Amino acid sequence: MLTVHQLTYRYPPASPGQPPLVVFENLSWAVEGRAAAAIVGASGVGKSTLLHVLGGLDAPAAGEVRIGSTSLWELSPTERARFRNRSIGFVFQFHHLLPEFTALENVALPMRMAGVRWDESCRRARRLLERVGLEQRQHHLPAELSGGESQRVALARALANAPPLLLADEPTGNLDERTAADVLGLLHELQRDQGLTLVLVTHDSRLAATCQQVWRLERGQLTPVVA
Ligand SMILES: Nc1ncnc2c1ncn2[C@@H]1O[C@H](COP(=O)(O)OP(=O)(O)OP(=O)(O)O)[C@@H](O)[C@H]1O
Ligand SMILES: [Mg+2]
Repeated sequence: MLTVHQLTYRYPPASPGQPPLVVFENLSWAVEGRAAAAIVGASGVGKSTLLHVLGGLDAPAAGEVRIGSTSLWELSPTERARFRNRSIGFVFQFHHLLPEFTALENVALPMRMAGVRWDESCRRARRLLERVGLEQRQHHLPAELSGGESQRVALARALANAPPLLLADEPTGNLDERTAADVLGLLHELQRDQGLTLVLVTHDSRLAATCQQVWRLERGQLTPVVA
């Protein structure tokens, strides 16, 4: 499902004459089938950077990201935006909902962008909000939602176009333990029900252990963590 081949990512130097910051180099990795894979690792090892490259948000210096039969970084920017909209769901640590739109509109927008009529997008968005237990909050703005509710809306939005791949970067990192457990439970439930491939980044090994596979990112390489 998700294959990474010889992937290299560098941040440009902070000042001229300095070397670039190499986050990973020649990284190869794969998640087969519809599994849930966790990536753990210390702060600053490059987990978010890797997820952004997998999600088509940050371009690698070299290498390939293959999702199904599509080579993500060989697409033109327009094709990649379209592919992302339909095939990749992304949940950020902080929900990144659009502040001036209601919960319902935030979930409906990706469908509208995919060409679904607005009334149909809203109908489906309502169903997704029901799925995450927020039918009573559909007309709230993000500022009128709690942290856990916002994150559930973000999850519904990520699933709007039923993508085969869901990438989640510390999706519960900003929540209290109880709410985090609820959101994580929901994430796994949706992963199983919809048969998604899930890549979950977390620094919490207990959360990671809820996934079928656990990988550690260290010195730019991913190695399996054996339970
Ligand atoms: N825009 C940027 N420009 C330069 N360096 C950056 C930039 N963003 C991140 N870095 C550096 O790249 C490295 C990897 O950062 P990244 O955010 O991917 O780490 P992370 O594993 O997600 O950490 P955390 O667990 O704290 O979220 C860090 O050393 C960081 O300082
Ligand atoms: Mg991070």
